[in-house]
Amino acid sequence: MSWLRRPLASLRSLVQPRRSSAPGSPLARRSSTSSISAFMPEATALAGVRDYPALRQFSLQQAERFWGALARERLCWISPFTTVSDCDLALGNIRWFEGGRLNVSVNCIDRHVHTCPDRVALIWERDEPGSQVRITYRQLLEMTCRVANTLKRQGVRKGDRVTIYMPASPIAVASMLACTRIGAVHTVVFAGFSAEALAGRIQDAQAETVITTNQAVRGGRIIELKKTVDQAVKMCSSVKHVLVAKRTENEVPMSNIDIPLEEEMMKEEAFCDPVAMESEDLLFLLYTSGSTGKPKGLVHTQAGYLLYATVTHRYVFDYHDGDVFGCVADIGWITGHSYVVYGPLCNGGTTVLFESTPVYPNPGRYWEMVERLKINQFYGAPTAIRLLLKYGDAWVKSHDRSSLKVLGTVGEPINSEAWDWYYRVVGESKCPVMDTWWQTETGGICIAPHPATREAEIVPAMAMRPFFGINPVLMDDQGRKLMGNNISGALCIAQPWPGMARTIYNDHDRFVNTYYKPYPNHFFTGDGAYRSEKGYYQITGRLDDVINISGHRLATAEIEGAVNLHRVVAESAAIGCAHEIKGEASYVFIVLKDGIDIAEHIITEELKHIVSQKIAKYAVPDYVQIVKRLPKTRSGKIMRRVLRKIVEQKLDELGDLTTLDDHTAVQEIVAGVQGDPKE
Ligand code: WT7
Repeated sequence: MSWLRRPLASLRSLVQPRRSSAPGSPLARRSSTSSISAFMPEATALAGVRDYPALRQFSLQQAERFWGALARERLCWISPFTTVSDCDLALGNIRWFEGGRLNVSVNCIDRHVHTCPDRVALIWERDEPGSQVRITYRQLLEMTCRVANTLKRQGVRKGDRVTIYMPASPIAVASMLACTRIGAVHTVVFAGFSAEALAGRIQDAQAETVITTNQAVRGGRIIELKKTVDQAVKMCSSVKHVLVAKRTENEVPMSNIDIPLEEEMMKEEAFCDPVAMESEDLLFLLYTSGSTGKPKGLVHTQAGYLLYATVTHRYVFDYHDGDVFGCVADIGWITGHSYVVYGPLCNGGTTVLFESTPVYPNPGRYWEMVERLKINQFYGAPTAIRLLLKYGDAWVKSHDRSSLKVLGTVGEPINSEAWDWYYRVVGESKCPVMDTWWQTETGGICIAPHPATREAEIVPAMAMRPFFGINPVLMDDQGRKLMGNNISGALCIAQPWPGMARTIYNDHDRFVNTYYKPYPNHFFTGDGAYRSEKGYYQITGRLDDVINISGHRLATAEIEGAVNLHRVVAESAAIGCAHEIKGEASYVFIVLKDGIDIAEHIITEELKHIVSQKIAKYAVPDYVQIVKRLPKTRSGKIMRRVLRKIVEQKLDELGDLTTLDDHTAVQEIVAGVQGDPKE
C-alpha cells in the first residue's frame, strides 16, 4: 500500500525498551474492581458489571446502550435523541444521537450557572507570572452572550464559519462558545501560523468573520497578531469583518472592516438565547496536516464530540469537582479544544488557560504555576518535558507540587527518560502518568493507561489501554488483522465512537480515501503500534509522510511546497529525523537549478525564512543539504525511506534499491551526509 512507507519490521526497532513494573513497586498496584462503579454509575448499573475489562466488553458489544446511557446522563438535551448511532464506516458515514437537539454552550456554561454560578470556570494564566485572572461561570456566560450578540449584529448566522486567531484567553474561549451559542462553526487557527497559512484556512472555510487580538504577548515579547490578520485578509475576499479584542493597551491600525470587540460587546445585552442544534450539525472545523501539501479541515459535530471530550476528561484524568485542571496546550490545537475548553467546561470544571512558555521567565514556570494555582491535573507535551529535564531538578523541586494528583502527556511518543523524570521528579513518584494517544480525527483520548480505575498498573512510556468503546486492531501490510500479542502493525479502530471526525470540510472523498479505504470497515489512524505480551498498546509513530515536530503535525509535502518556491530550488525532499528535544526535526534535501552555485549556509537561512513565512516558525527545517539528484524510483517517486535511512546512518538497512532509477544518487548523498555532520 502506497501510504505504508515504513516497513512493518522496522516498527519493532522503533519501540523503546519497555520496563515492566516490578512487583511491589508503586507502579505495580493491582487493578481494582471496586472504584469503577463510583466512576461510571449509569454504565456500570446498566451493564451489571464492576470492573474495567467487563465494562469495556459491554461498551464494545452493546455500544448503543453504553453510549446512549452516558449521553442521556451527562449531556443536557433540548429534545431527546431517537437513535444512538447510525454509522457506515465503509462510506465514512458517521452519525450519533440523531433526533436530539442541544446547545453546546448551555452544556458548558448555563447548567453550571444554575448550580454553582460563582465557581471559577477559567483561570487565565497570563504571560506575566502572578497576574492570573479568574472568570466564574456566571461571568463566562455574560461574556459569551455579549460576544454572541456582537456576532449576530454583524450578521453571523447558524452554519456560518468564524475564524478565531487568538492566543489562549477568556475572550478566545468566550468567542468559541459564542459561536456554539448561535450555531456558527468556529475554526480556531493556532496563532503561531503565518499570514499565508491563516489565509489558506480562511479561504477553505469561506469564513466571513475573523476574531483576533490587537497583539499577543508570549515569553515577554509582543507579537503583532493583528498585522498578520491584515496580511491574511488581503488574500481572502470572503472576509467581511474582523473583530479585534485588546490584549495590550497599544493601538494598532484599524480599517473599515475592523470592529473593536470589547467596545461593541459592552453595548450588547448579557443574554442571548441559545440556538437548538441538531446532534449532527457542525460544531467546528480544525485544520490539520495530512500527507499532501494541503491541510484538511476536520469536521466535528455537536453531541458526539462533546460527550466524548467530557467523558474522557473525567475518567482519564480522574477529574473530580473542585479540581483545577491544567492543560498547557494552545487552543489552536485539538488538545486545547477538548481538554482546555469543552471537556473541562462541560464537566463544570476549573480549567487553566496558559498563555506563556515553559521557560518564561525561567524553566520553573510550570511548577511555579502549579504551586500558585494549586493545579491538580497537569497535561503537557513530551517535547516540553524533555526540554525542562535538561535544566535540572532544582527548578522543579523549588516549588510545592503537593496539589498534583495526575500527570499527562500527549502529541508524540514519550521516551523512557522523559517519562521517568516526569514521574519521579515532577510527580515525586506519587502521580500516575497518563501517556494519552489520540488525534485531531479522534476528538478525544482513545488510548491511555487509566480509562477508569486509579489503581491499574502502568507501564512507563506506553499509552496502554483503550478507552471504553474503542476497539483498536493492528493490521499487516496486506490488510490482514493481526491476532495475538507481542506484535506490531498499522493501528486501526474497528468500531465507531461518538468523538470521531465526521468528514473533511468540503472533501468527503479525501476523508473516505484517507481513513476508510486503506482498511475497509476500519478507521485507519496513520500510526503504527505495538501490542505487548500483556495486550497493552504502544504507539510507534506515523506510517505516512507526516512528521511530528514538537508534537505538531506537518506533512513533508507542505515543507517541500514552501521550499520549492525558492528561485534556485529545482526540487526537494523533506524527511523527519530524530531530534533530542523536538522529537523530530525536518531535514530537507534540495537540488539546485542548473548553473546555480550557492553556499549551503546561505540557502539554509533563506529556506528557513520562506518556510516560516509560508507555514509557521515551528516548521522551519533544521538541516538543509544540497544534493545533485534525489533517489527516485523509475516512475519518478522520491524514495524518502532511503533518505531517512541515510540520515539515520543505517546504511545496512537501505533495503531493496533495485527499483531506484540511478544508484549513484544514493552514493553521492551518503558521501554528503558523512562529509557534513549536520552542524
Ligand atoms: C498524531 C496526532 C492528540 C492531540 C495532539 C496531537 C501523534 C499523539 C501520541 C502519543 C505517540 C502520539 C500520533 C498521532 N501522537 N499522541 N501519546 N504517543 N504519538 O494531535 O496534531 O492530530 O496529531 O500525534 O502520531 O497520529 P494531532
